[in-house]
Amino acid sequence: MTETEQAWLVSPSRRKALAAMAGFVAASPMAAGLAEPDPGTSLNEVRRIKGLAEMRSTFDFEPLFEGNLLSSVHQYTAHGDGSEFTLRRNRLAYDWVDILPSRRTIAASQVDLSSELLGVKMKFPILVAPSSGQNGLHPEGEVGMFRGAVAASNMVDILSSASNASVQAALKAAPQGSLWSQHYPDENLANEQRALEGVQTAGSKCIVITVDQQASFYERDLLIRNLGGRAGAAPGGGDGNAAAATAAAAAAAAAAGGPAVPGSVRYRVSDRRLWYSWQYIDAVRKIARDKLLLKGILDPEDARLAIEHGADGIIVSNHGGRSMDYGPSTLEVLPEIVAAVNGRIPILFDSGIRRGADIFKALALGANAVCLGRAARWGLGAFGAAGAQRVFEILQQELVQVAAAAGCARLADINRTTVRTHFV
Ligand SMILES: Cc1cc2nc3c(=O)[nH]c(=O)nc-3n(C[C@H](O)[C@H](O)[C@H](O)COP(=O)(O)O)c2cc1C
Repeated sequence: MTETEQAWLVSPSRRKALAAMAGFVAASPMAAGLAEPDPGTSLNEVRRIKGLAEMRSTFDFEPLFEGNLLSSVHQYTAHGDGSEFTLRRNRLAYDWVDILPSRRTIAASQVDLSSELLGVKMKFPILVAPSSGQNGLHPEGEVGMFRGAVAASNMVDILSSASNASVQAALKAAPQGSLWSQHYPDENLANEQRALEGVQTAGSKCIVITVDQQASFYERDLLIRNLGGRAGAAPGGGDGNAAAATAAAAAAAAAAGGPAVPGSVRYRVSDRRLWYSWQYIDAVRKIARDKLLLKGILDPEDARLAIEHGADGIIVSNHGGRSMDYGPSTLEVLPEIVAAVNGRIPILFDSGIRRGADIFKALALGANAVCLGRAARWGLGAFGAAGAQRVFEILQQELVQVAAAAGCARLADINRTTVRTHFV
């Protein structure tokens, strides 16, 4: 009997069978196809979808955000008003500011950018901007965003009035955190008072009144409608808040055969917020028990008036390019507003921030702190609270690196002498 014939008489052991199978698989051309392009890297490097640990910059989060969510939700977050020139200009403006090289070198470990803003001690001058309907981004919604912010060195989060979660729910999840509340003026002052009293009683120390308006119609709405989303309304709806009202009104209008976007009329002209006045701000000032911020300031005269009417701070913002196309970028108008305010109240700043270098430039041009809109949403939509936290930490660390490279050990060192502008 030959050796092979003998082998056939004896069943192979389990161990031998597995070894033979492993040898077969290893020799297969399919295994070669799966091989890592760069030996020595981890298997993660060849995965199509990256994991949280592989996120290197805020830009890494957007494709995951887009991939995870309905296209209508992604478009709703991404769009700007009209041709989106201001949306693009917000980003371009950062390219028009140089950070000047420093003659002193500072180790990143020596950089301390802590400060106090409106009574809140902050390790980094970075807050989360209010943005609507975060349940549409991740089941953890606003509560997850707040948990991410608190986990990232106790950042302040500004809860939108068009939120899916209440101040109570968010503070219950992270009671040690600071949550501020944003509201759009409600023409019915009694309603506004009820809403503001409610959030203050729930623990919100600062009221943010948004005085610009999100455009009532976007060219991308056509796309959103075609995809079956609700044009102009925050995806994810809302519960007992403005988003819910918006959704209900949209549904009612649609049922009546009217426009899908409440408040918008033919030819895209919205009269929803054109009634705003400084007298209204005076009334809100009386309702706000503690700090009052006005968000959406783009003009030095408005900044002066905001101080006259009792604002404790302003947010220089163009709603991330969502409110008025062909308006200036926020970075370009910041220096004149800083000059008008002249240190009397803190100036917060947003629109277009994606990198630590962007934050550095805004601080150097006179902002006291910045707020993150879409970048924060990308983090939450990609990985929930952990993703939001990672976005915040990436930006904090990038800011520290830039400050060190520019020779700035403290926040006060980040000033006009550290940058040169080339605004056109
Ligand atoms: C999807 C989305 C929803 C927003 N919702 C609100 C809101 O409810 N209230 C508000 O004051 N600002 C809102 N904003 C504006 C942000 O607070 C912030 O001004 C803007 O996002 C900053 O620009 P950035 O996204 O380029 O960082 C929203 C922005 C986005 C992108």
